Amino acid sequence: MFPKSLSGSLASIVAVLAVVIGGLVLTAQAPADAQKAVDGAYNQFKTLKEGKNADYIPALAKVDPNLFGISLVTADGKVYSAGDIKTEVSIQSISKVFTMAQVIQEQGTESIEKRIGVDATGARFNSIIAIEGVRNVVGTGAPEMNALVNPGAISATSMVRGNTADAVWAKIIGIHNDFAGRQLKVLQDVYKSESDSNQRNQAIGALMFAYGYIKTDWKQAVDLYTRQCSIGVNVKDLATMAATLAAMGKNPVTGKQVMDATKVPAVLAVMATAGLYDDSGKWLYHTGLPAKSGVGGGIIAVSPGKFGVAVVSPPLDDAGNSVRAQRAITEVSNTLNGNPYAARTSR
Ligand code: DON
Repeated sequence: MFPKSLSGSLASIVAVLAVVIGGLVLTAQAPADAQKAVDGAYNQFKTLKEGKNADYIPALAKVDPNLFGISLVTADGKVYSAGDIKTEVSIQSISKVFTMAQVIQEQGTESIEKRIGVDATGARFNSIIAIEGVRNVVGTGAPEMNALVNPGAISATSMVRGNTADAVWAKIIGIHNDFAGRQLKVLQDVYKSESDSNQRNQAIGALMFAYGYIKTDWKQAVDLYTRQCSIGVNVKDLATMAATLAAMGKNPVTGKQVMDATKVPAVLAVMATAGLYDDSGKWLYHTGLPAKSGVGGGIIAVSPGKFGVAVVSPPLDDAGNSVRAQRAITEVSNTLNGNPYAARTSR
């Protein structure tokens, strides 16, 4: 019916149209799917009552255990949320990711690997035994520790360069602000409560200094670490921070490149191996996602190239990870095929 060349061009036009329409269908479907996944997980877990607020920091015991919010931010900056997205909780250990990121950004990936190590401890986040376990390898190679447990995190805080405590703090709060895309503030009641009750972290700081991992003023490091743990964030802040990691260091909401893209995989690797402490293996087994928890009840998780997702829900399990956050993130991510180990080739 058509000359051969014309039918050839028609075929190409049809093929191009099919790709365009296919693309439109995909982009038109994805937001609905993401919102449905977030709403679905919210409804599924809103009545779940397992776990208990952290109480070794008195201010955390007072936070409403019913607080529950989910937020997902895609690597191109679309935001989908359900539940409470306004209430701020203290970021706690999730801050360890971003202070480690600051050290990696200013001193390279080797700095963290050599001074602190990038291995799971298999112990609780504030284990003293884990410190004793790395003691005999000082000076002979990287210790078997990581920057996401308290001893490694206090050491990472001590590594941030600055001539005064204020100068170091400006960098720490600065990188948190950049990842979140807004100016965050310290929750003073949490900072005071934790400062009054952090004798164990002071012991950890003193030991890390005595064993050569902290080379500057350990008391200043513990204080700045306590302050960074008290930064107030809502669930959308947390999801934006996770999405910035998913987008290789570019905050997808503000458009600012906040960390070199080449350094992001190192951050994600430590999150994958140690982000949920001694439950990190179990978490990875079910989700495949680099993640980080905090005793304030938040968890962030990163699906590289796709999205960052966060949940806030204060009641924790025995390992110190939010029960509802683990369940809800697993559900959302698996619904949206977020597991990077399940990535498919196009054929
Ligand atoms: O140092 C502490 O104990 C707290 N500021 C942070 C611990 C934490 O968030 C552990 N996370 N699950």
